[in-house]
Amino acid sequence: MSRLLIRNASIVFPDRIVTGNVLCGGGKILDVDASLTASADEVIDGQGKFLLPGVIDDQVHFREPGLTHKEDLATASAACAAGGVTSFLEMPNTKPSATTQALIEDKYQIASQKAIVNYGFYIGATAENVDDLKRASNVPGIKIFIGSSTGDLLVDSQDALERIFAETALPICAHCEDESTVRANSERIGTPTSVHDHSRIRDHQAAYIATKRAIDLAVRHKHRFHVLHVSTAGELPLIDNQAPWITAEACLHHFLFSIDDYDRLGTLIQMNPSIKTKEDCQQIWLALHKDILQVIATDHAPHTMEEKQKAYPQSPSGLPAVENSLALMLDQANQGHCSLTQIAHWMSDAPARIWGMVGKGRIENGYDADLVLVDLNLRQTIQNEKQFTKCKWSPWHGVELQGWPTTTIVGGSVVFRDGMIVNTKAAQRLKFDHSRGGYWATSEGIGPSTNS
Ligand code: DOR
Repeated sequence: MSRLLIRNASIVFPDRIVTGNVLCGGGKILDVDASLTASADEVIDGQGKFLLPGVIDDQVHFREPGLTHKEDLATASAACAAGGVTSFLEMPNTKPSATTQALIEDKYQIASQKAIVNYGFYIGATAENVDDLKRASNVPGIKIFIGSSTGDLLVDSQDALERIFAETALPICAHCEDESTVRANSERIGTPTSVHDHSRIRDHQAAYIATKRAIDLAVRHKHRFHVLHVSTAGELPLIDNQAPWITAEACLHHFLFSIDDYDRLGTLIQMNPSIKTKEDCQQIWLALHKDILQVIATDHAPHTMEEKQKAYPQSPSGLPAVENSLALMLDQANQGHCSLTQIAHWMSDAPARIWGMVGKGRIENGYDADLVLVDLNLRQTIQNEKQFTKCKWSPWHGVELQGWPTTTIVGGSVVFRDGMIVNTKAAQRLKFDHSRGGYWATSEGIGPSTNS
């Protein structure tokens, strides 16, 4: 068994940061309190750096199969490794859409050849595939597009939604934008004149109505439910304390960009749900701090620059972020806006618990050795040409950040070091155990808890 020792790092535990040595072997964390001289095949000097659990991004679109001119599982997972992301959960709006176990298995097969970090794939809901959803196994959960976005997955009939929530057992997550509101806004506005209209068409009301509808379904059917990419302050009271089986997340672009940025960035920040106001950004940030939102994800959704430069509304919605999300958050920590333990909670521990990812998300003895070493003093500028993502652009191009991942470790093997991918063979298919009760599970059962 090959052993890796990370020496003298500031280790970010859920409730404290302690300088010490972490010994890994057999893919696991063997000892979080190892001796400085523990025998190991490889030693990493962590002096002056922080060791965090590897990031788990629970919402990404990696485009394979079918849309590989935008991204594929090799380029996307290289971007993950560069960004300190050690596990990803990928959405079903590929081509074909992943709506059966057989199509999911095809993705797992491709990933087993190409992925550099650990992988899991959601099954997509349609109005007709409830039997496939019932049969699906070893997936993080079911994804429903209650509002349409890239691809053709849309379930907005009440009957179909009732059936999915009533008859399936896997956790459900949803893209919540109300289709009829979006269509009505679109008709009212007519021919859009600029990308600013995107946030008028996919407006606050569209987000509110769909989130309310989905939460109502989850509450009535007592079904585990995760609200993806909350974009408005108005949705927060719908989520707050609603039921202990409901969780929710924010994506970085929904608290780091506002409609004021359209003039500067145009269609590069055209997203579904749309970017909202500065006030929404502030409230989302506050909701993360209050545990109303538990997860930070990216919704990494690459399109080529050529596609994005088409005039709105021909331009597709989506932006890439997976390789910059941790650095963006480390920079926030450096600015005093959050702590490293909060980052580890939002980006590792919370998604691991929500999706039943056994042995992931924390630095603890017996947990998987998925780790990222970060240098909080390192200053680097995000540059399009240096991106690992196939689309080779970032909406944060030209932005200097302080705090970067320097070494990413998957299953005890270094996969990324000092700007380079150094190992492409460490990734594993993720396992999901949904019997554990999810984020709010406690030893007494399920109940809201701030325990992280
Ligand atoms: O803007 C978006 N783009 N939002 C989504 O939900 C899907 C994504 C994509 O796949 O392009």
